[in-house]
Amino acid sequence: MDRLKVGVLISGRGSNMTALAKACAATDFPAEIVLVLSNGADPGGLERAEGLGIATELISHHGFPNRSSFEIALTERLEAAGVEFICLAGFMRLLTASFVNHWRDRMINIHPSLLPAFKGLHTHERALKAGVRISGCTVHFVRPEMDEGPIIIQAAVPVLADDTPNSLASRILVQEHRIYPEALRLIASGAATVMGERMRFRAAVGNDNLLVNPVPAQP
Ligand code: GAR
Repeated sequence: MDRLKVGVLISGRGSNMTALAKACAATDFPAEIVLVLSNGADPGGLERAEGLGIATELISHHGFPNRSSFEIALTERLEAAGVEFICLAGFMRLLTASFVNHWRDRMINIHPSLLPAFKGLHTHERALKAGVRISGCTVHFVRPEMDEGPIIIQAAVPVLADDTPNSLASRILVQEHRIYPEALRLIASGAATVMGERMRFRAAVGNDNLLVNPVPAQP
């Protein structure tokens, strides 16, 4: 089986990268991680990747005069490693249109909200402040506009009455670790393809499990 060669870009602890790596460890998974690249000061993610036997690289954006020279270095490293497809996994650096268009339809991202709600930072604080009863996470193809792009998969997570940003973040993170590998599997296997600004699925997908929160007293 020809497996899709994936590069994972991280900035921090890399728990989503780890979830992807664990999925890729199965020999019948249609993708493999050939490089984990971090721009961050937090060494945690790279140490985890090394522990899993994956090639790693640290490229700090501080070492470059501007965004585009940093991104050229990223693309050079990724392509030298044979990367065909990028997973952004907590990569906390805005990418220019030039980089995004170079990797157009070959780069996906995970975001801790039900997009298009709560793009950007501090998603959980803002979800709690807005009073939404259901939040969640989204894996989507990357477009030049921040947190935009065709949505591949989402998980909904109920907001609890006593939630704090941290408690909500940790329940959503558990779902991130489920949906990110699934998104990669759908793409790498050809079960899902991006067509313009929407996804097309090879077979019927979805379920009609309703999630209502709070749960109504009457069934
Ligand atoms: C994850 O919650 C991810 O959704 C979020 O950063 C965290 C990274 O955690 N990404 C963004 O907010 C992107 N806008 P991780 O390093 O443990 O995967």
